[in-house]
Amino acid sequence: MARITASVYTSHVPAIGVALDLGKTHEPYWQPLFKGYEFSKQWMKENKPDVIFLVYNDHATAFSLELIPTFAIGCAAEFQPADEGYGARPVPKVIGHPELASHIAQSVIQDDFDLTIVNRMDVDHGLTVPLSLMCGQQDKDKGGWPCPVIPFAVNVVQYPVPSGRRCFQLGQAIRRAVESYDDPLNVQIWGTGGMSHQLQGPRAGLINREWDNRFLDRLIAEPAALAQVPHLEYVEEAGSEGIELVMWLIARGAMADVAGGKAPTVAHRFYHVPASNTAVGHLILENT
Ligand code: DHB
Ligand code: FE
Repeated sequence: MARITASVYTSHVPAIGVALDLGKTHEPYWQPLFKGYEFSKQWMKENKPDVIFLVYNDHATAFSLELIPTFAIGCAAEFQPADEGYGARPVPKVIGHPELASHIAQSVIQDDFDLTIVNRMDVDHGLTVPLSLMCGQQDKDKGGWPCPVIPFAVNVVQYPVPSGRRCFQLGQAIRRAVESYDDPLNVQIWGTGGMSHQLQGPRAGLINREWDNRFLDRLIAEPAALAQVPHLEYVEEAGSEGIELVMWLIARGAMADVAGGKAPTVAHRFYHVPASNTAVGHLILENT
C-alpha cells in the first residue's frame, strides 16, 4: 500500500521565484531566505518521494472569477507553468500521476468530500515556487522535477473559503485514500501559502511574527485544536492573505498521529521576514 512519509509546509511568495529565475539568490536581501532552504534541498535529495501531493491555491490564474472550485484535484498527465502576466516561469512542466490522483478522487469523494476533478490546469507560483525551493532550480528543457506531482488547488481567494476544520478533516480523508492505494508508493504531502501577509488596503504589508510562530508551534504540537481557529482570526491576525495558512492543515491532517499513530519528528523549522511584503514560514515533519 502507498504511504505518507512526510509533510512539508512552505510559503510560496512569487518574488522568491523571480529571485531564483533571475539569479539573485546570493544578494544580501535574499541570502538569509535561501539559507533557510539549504537543509531542505539536501533533505529532498535524501528523501525523494515517488509522488508529491501538493496543496496550494490558484491566484486567479487557472480559474477566473467565473468558476471557483473550493477543492480541485489535478488528474491530468501534465500541467504547464502558468503565464502570470509577465510570462510563465522558466521551469519545467509538472508531470502528474493520473492513476493515484483518480484513486484519491474516488476515495475522498466517497468519503463525503466534494472535490472538483480537473483534467486540464496550468499551475502558478503557488505550486512552482515551493517546488523550486525544495528541489532547486531545474532547467526548463533538461530533466525536470524529481518526481510526479498531484496539484490540489484550494479556494482561499474568493469568499467563502473553507474552514481550517474542514481542511484538517480533508487531510485525514486524503491519508485514508493514499493508504488504500494498491502500490507501495512513498508519498509526501505539502501545504503551501502564508504566512502572515496582506497585499492590499490600509493594512498592506502587515506581518505578525508572534502569531505566525504560535501557528507553527501549534501546527506541530496540537493541530486538532489549531484547526478550530475560525477564518476571521486568520484575517485579523495574519492579514487578508494569511488565510492561505488553512491549506497547511490539509497536509497536517494527513500525518500519522492524527490517525492514532506516533507524533511526527520535526526535521526542519525556519521563519524569516521579509520576502517582498510577506513573512516566510517553513516546516518539514516526518512520520516515524
Ligand atoms: C504575494 C503573493 C502570494 O500569492 C503570496 O502567497 C505571498 C505574496 C505577493 O504578491 O507578494
Ligand atoms: Fe499566495
